[in-house]
Amino acid sequence: MPRTAKDFFAPLAVGAPQPLREIPARPSRAIHFFDPGNEKMAAKVPAMVGTVDVLLGNLEDAVKAENKEKSRQGLLDIGRSTEFGPTQFWTRVNSLDSPWGLDDLTTLVTEVGDKLDVIMVPKVQGAEDIHYVDRLLAQLEAKAGLTRPILVHAILETARGVANVEEICAASPRMQGLSLGPADLAADRRMKTTRVGGGHPGYLVRQDPPRSDAGETQYDADRTTYQQDLWHYTIARMVDACAMHGIYPYYGPFGDIVDTVACEDQFRNAFLLGCVGAWSLHPAQIAIAHRVFSPSVEDVAHARRVIAAMGDGTGAVMIDGKMEDDASVKQCQVMVALADELAA
Ligand code: GLV
Ligand code: MG
Repeated sequence: MPRTAKDFFAPLAVGAPQPLREIPARPSRAIHFFDPGNEKMAAKVPAMVGTVDVLLGNLEDAVKAENKEKSRQGLLDIGRSTEFGPTQFWTRVNSLDSPWGLDDLTTLVTEVGDKLDVIMVPKVQGAEDIHYVDRLLAQLEAKAGLTRPILVHAILETARGVANVEEICAASPRMQGLSLGPADLAADRRMKTTRVGGGHPGYLVRQDPPRSDAGETQYDADRTTYQQDLWHYTIARMVDACAMHGIYPYYGPFGDIVDTVACEDQFRNAFLLGCVGAWSLHPAQIAIAHRVFSPSVEDVAHARRVIAAMGDGTGAVMIDGKMEDDASVKQCQVMVALADELAA
């Protein structure tokens, strides 16, 4: 008897303790965006299968209003004609209050739902948006006879969405993860930036003023400044909410394609804070994301040493002059689990 989407969710009956989501543990370090309505870009997609963790056909922002139908049709063609193998196939649909969101969902699920792994929903404000998508997907999956449920990924890009981040994570067992959407979020918060992700030279702290020998404070303008991370608060908040609900957090887009060094820094900060991946807006960013969101050989080797030395995982040991205990062995287990997952 084939498993239906309904069977998949059966263990999550109302009142049952919330288990970790049954998220397929497939790598998604780089979510590579392409415009399916752009023939040049679309033609490259089949050759990218196997070279990137996720291929995402983008239908929302960056696609002109007059090209929305063309992009949707392009995505249907790609979905039908491509075997995705180890690469996941995602889409970003138009927002739920746009003229295109409903048609995106109904057409894609009906026509290529068997290929789609995850639907990214932009501008999610609260649990109600996820409930709407969840119910609609259930109907469309049943109608199309799909046996594998399509998962949902929300972009955190409104102040209200950030305020409701925990209920968004918990809104459906389909929730796969969240991405930071720094461009829309900056606008919604009335931040005074014009960038897509990354830092800002004006957001900094200055070294304390030195004192002269006479004890006077010297407020020199040439003191060292340190640039701060505009996105630290939101990423940390998103990571906590995702960890609490067993889903995956992602850094979103880094718009300065040429500055691969700063992109790598930003991705690495996100990795260290708990994110599992980021968007790639250009093929150059794929290698960066794959590298950054994979634990280093040295870190994994160290983690394995600690785990071996800790035996049953309790107590404390000294390794290279550093104390390791029950808590640090758990950090090491996270690192090794990720390495194993990526190697599988
Ligand atoms: C992404 O969608 C963003 O708004 O940054
Ligand atoms: Mg956006």
